[in-house]
Amino acid sequence: MSERDFRLCPQAKAFKRFPSVYTLLAVVAILFYGVLPARMLAGATRGQDSTGALERHNPLLLGAAWYPEQWPESRWEEDLRLMEAAHITFARVGEFAWSRMEPEEGKYDLDWLERAIAKAAQHHVAIVLGTPTPAPPAWLTQAYPDTLRVGLDGRRAVHGNRQQFSFTSPRYRQFCHKIADQMAKRFGHNRNVIGWQIDNEYAEVSYDDYTKEQFQQWLKAKYKTLDNLNAHWTTAYWSQTYFDWSQIPLGEGYNNPALRLEWKRFVSDTWASYQQNQIDAIRPHADQRQFITTNFMGFFEGFDHYVVAKALDLTSWDDYVGSGHADPDANGVTHDLTRGFKRQNFWVMETQPGAVNWADVNNFLDRGEVRAMAWQAIGHGAEAVEYWQWRSALNGQEQYHGTLVGADGTPVPLYEEVAQIGAEFVKAGDALRDTSPKSEVAMLYDYDSRWAIDFQQHTEKYDQLGLLRQYYRAIRMRAQSVDIVNPYVRLDGYKLVLAPDLNLLPQPLAQHLLAYVRNGGQLVLGPRSGMKDEYNALLTQRQPGYLVDALGGRVEQFYALEKDFPVSGKWGAGTATIWAEQMEASAPDAEVLLKYGEANGWLDGQAAAISRAVGKGRITYIGAILDDKTMSSAADWIVEQSGTTPIFGAVPDGIEVSRREGVGKQVFVLINFKRETQQVTLPRAMDVVLGSAVLRNRVEIPAYGVEVLVDKK
Ligand code: GLA
Repeated sequence: MSERDFRLCPQAKAFKRFPSVYTLLAVVAILFYGVLPARMLAGATRGQDSTGALERHNPLLLGAAWYPEQWPESRWEEDLRLMEAAHITFARVGEFAWSRMEPEEGKYDLDWLERAIAKAAQHHVAIVLGTPTPAPPAWLTQAYPDTLRVGLDGRRAVHGNRQQFSFTSPRYRQFCHKIADQMAKRFGHNRNVIGWQIDNEYAEVSYDDYTKEQFQQWLKAKYKTLDNLNAHWTTAYWSQTYFDWSQIPLGEGYNNPALRLEWKRFVSDTWASYQQNQIDAIRPHADQRQFITTNFMGFFEGFDHYVVAKALDLTSWDDYVGSGHADPDANGVTHDLTRGFKRQNFWVMETQPGAVNWADVNNFLDRGEVRAMAWQAIGHGAEAVEYWQWRSALNGQEQYHGTLVGADGTPVPLYEEVAQIGAEFVKAGDALRDTSPKSEVAMLYDYDSRWAIDFQQHTEKYDQLGLLRQYYRAIRMRAQSVDIVNPYVRLDGYKLVLAPDLNLLPQPLAQHLLAYVRNGGQLVLGPRSGMKDEYNALLTQRQPGYLVDALGGRVEQFYALEKDFPVSGKWGAGTATIWAEQMEASAPDAEVLLKYGEANGWLDGQAAAISRAVGKGRITYIGAILDDKTMSSAADWIVEQSGTTPIFGAVPDGIEVSRREGVGKQVFVLINFKRETQQVTLPRAMDVVLGSAVLRNRVEIPAYGVEVLVDKK
């Protein structure tokens, strides 16, 4: 499986401050021009140092991944001119340029980069600097082969691809520290550098002996004694008992579920420390206004993103469709996931300019679709959208990838659409300044549970992300806004919390959820919930474990299904598919909402979903995967129970609504994902920012069209 298959997948306060001189200029400009002319401001303040480019720019940034090291310097001017003409306000540079930055060990050459950054500044293109560590130079890995990662087959990686390094290697980390330190010393106060991206899409781990030792040390620090570890892992099973820490293998393959879970946690901590090594090099030399981020890959399951995101100033992700077309729900849920890593606005650090080169069919997105995707990102809380890449490299593995400028150096047809997005970002920037999405509904996403189910799917058809998306789709359509959050966050601001996949439910988490319910929250659990403890061991209670008493019912038995079975009840008649749990309501006030019809004998006539009022709130457990229609009726009931209301109001099918809130206003982003014009009725009079036709109280939005509406409170 390639890394692509994993893709289903606020701005930091410090650099949002707007110095008074700029504010004055903005006020004057607004008086004269009616909009905030960010690029004009940038021009007006050119030559003044100290505060940084981003503050002078529009709050909505448009960017491109630019690789000046691949081109003669004489070409840079034209590239930057074309960027500026398309309202591109930042470029990310450097993340694969190590061989140009350090052509020999210890001999650094950053002069060319400084010239590129300076030239970009002349065109009002700010810079996000990538540290070049995803692609070590050949001299490094030749002289120090121990820095190369080792695959599961025991072979060391070779030069020529990227990510060939071992993420635990102390020597590699030293090299990373030094190059990041050199860059930070040179550019940490550069006014045109607005932030840093560390490495690029962390993914490849190493299975070398040193990593294994590190893992064993990590386990020792956590468990303290082998007796403790052996007990939690039930190693008496198959004579797995460990007598010495050095006997513990790496956690891949058909191994003990506890070992495998700990390996994933170790990998997460290791990426966090790999990253911290570079943060420690950069931060002491970098202005506070320069943010530090890295680019994630949506629902990629290789590490716990909540752990890795902790030390970052902002999160960003790379939003690729691959084959086919943008699925608004699949894409929207991934934006919401990324926003939830730090519970603040985020960046789209890469997205596809039409087509990629790595999918099964690298079809081009339809005309208007790239624009719809850019605005969808903004609606869900993005502050920047960057296209990968600016211009096709003449050689290298990605020659066929989509770009904004062709190999010949002139714009491709999509360039105009991106320029339109840029112009709209300028137009709408002021309306969206200092706004972010807020939701009454949360969905819990937990890496431990994700991994635990993946290790033991029980049926190859079990698609937990598919289930998450089904819940998301059903609820988002009704509430028009959903947060995706770590289960341990404070939940009291939410009217409704859904946990479709919470397989691991340790006691403290159960207590946390119960407290939420008792205080008036509505909790909905999906199948396989509450089965295991934090060591991935089965609980000695039936599902949902520590919540059985509160639910007043439990799961008697679970079944992987070969075929669909009928269900009926409060949510109408439909089918259970792929997975069904036989439930039993024991408390007299536990309500059975859905029952199985004639099934496999065991399930016949048994409960499929139970709900019970607890304290001021309610717990509902849905023990089966339901067909979409039944899920839809379930969602009607769930939303009504929780008192959640749509943030905008009724819209036609295919229109996505998002909301960002600011002081004294809320801003709606409406996108028509249908390939025909649609009309949307406004619940009340609002300011129309992008200029759609307004007919009485309705806006008309063409296919893939977008509108931004400001609703002043
Ligand atoms: C990833 C990488 C980029 C590039 C693109 C191509 O997101 O970060 O360097 O390879 O994919 O889609």
